[in-house]
Amino acid sequence: MRRDNWPKRTYNPAMAESIQVSLGDRAYRIHVGRGLDGLSAAVPASASKVIVTDKNVGRLYAQKISHMLNARVLTVPAGEGSKSLGQLESVFAQLLAPRDLDRQSVIVALGGGVIGDLAGFAAATLFRGVRYIQLPTTLLAMVDSSVGGKTAINHETGKNLIGAFHQPQAVWCDIAFLETLPTREYVSGLAEVIKTGVLSGSAFLAKLEQSASAIVARNDEVVTRMIADCVRFKAAVVEQDETEATGRRAMLNFGHTLGHALENLYPDRWLHGEAVAIGMVAALRLSVARVALDAAVAERVTRLLHVLGLPTEIPPELEAQAATAVMLGDKKRDGGAVGFVLLKALGEPVIQSCTIDSALLHTLMGPRDERT
Ligand SMILES: NC(=O)c1ccc[n+]([C@@H]2O[C@H](COP(=O)([O-])OP(=O)(O)OC[C@H]3O[C@@H](n4cnc5c(N)ncnc54)[C@H](O)[C@@H]3O)[C@@H](O)[C@H]2O)c1
Repeated sequence: MRRDNWPKRTYNPAMAESIQVSLGDRAYRIHVGRGLDGLSAAVPASASKVIVTDKNVGRLYAQKISHMLNARVLTVPAGEGSKSLGQLESVFAQLLAPRDLDRQSVIVALGGGVIGDLAGFAAATLFRGVRYIQLPTTLLAMVDSSVGGKTAINHETGKNLIGAFHQPQAVWCDIAFLETLPTREYVSGLAEVIKTGVLSGSAFLAKLEQSASAIVARNDEVVTRMIADCVRFKAAVVEQDETEATGRRAMLNFGHTLGHALENLYPDRWLHGEAVAIGMVAALRLSVARVALDAAVAERVTRLLHVLGLPTEIPPELEAQAATAVMLGDKKRDGGAVGFVLLKALGEPVIQSCTIDSALLHTLMGPRDERT
């Protein structure tokens, strides 16, 4: 685990932030900072608790958290493959077999987005819903998937097709977890951070540009602030549109239409954030063509993605037809059209229903499409 060449820690505990997600009787707090202060007190001693984690994270942290919460540990294989019906069945079997759980029990999701989605969905459906706490351990899970209560598993026909909205009881984004996160996973999480910058507006993006080297070096204070800014932004969106009913929350899918297509077409080639980074570049290109986004803004965002180490090129071998088929299979489809989140300006996303035709593909794929 690479932590040797990191800058010396100079963490200021005053940097810790606690952000409220105001959803009436489903309101909760998201704690961002170093450490898990308040976690033990948040779970009643009388409640039985189960930590759901994956093999990688469990090896590093399960014993400590299990000791802290007096909880038993349930471990699943690492990776997207665990968001499956088969794995969910195995999780239920392990939750129910010891007969120590009831409706007051608490599930603790300790891991990245895969564990948050799987354990969250198990919590949403066990005994018609039990409480759960998110302890996200990847940057992506801290800035995105642990906020807002979307839980899901995949089906052979597509990603996240079986799921529920189920808000956690609380979330602790302990940046100490990031110390063992592989660089590629950390950088992949930065794609969702840049997405937040684009959707939030110029000021947030400028902050990211100014602190790019500190972000890459995982400086404690800069990373804490960055995560808290993302959480604050997403919490506000979720408060306005908890169940993606008004279109506000759907704006968070910026870059995800082509991103999901790339993940489906090349399952082992990119991490989620890497595919989203490429998808954002395509969405920016389409935004310039269709909703008059200033080309300089598209260039600015693409440059930031590149500086932070994310891919920005659509692979030359990507076939337009294959991409079309997958995008049309997207949940957001509508006849032969796909709802793309486009950008009129920084902080001004708009959803546009785009018919998939050769003109659209030409724009989306960029100059390389001329060769095919
Ligand atoms: N629910 C939502 O709103 C939402 C939003 C975005 C993404 N997602 C989902 O999130 C998933 C991707 O999440 P992810 O990128 O966190 O992937 P992940 O959960 O697979 O974690 C990535 C890898 O890092 C390892 N890992 C995690 N934390 C670690 C740590 N601290 N130290 C060392 N290794 C660690 C894991 O074992 C895994 O191998 C996808 O399934 C996606 O659909 C959900």
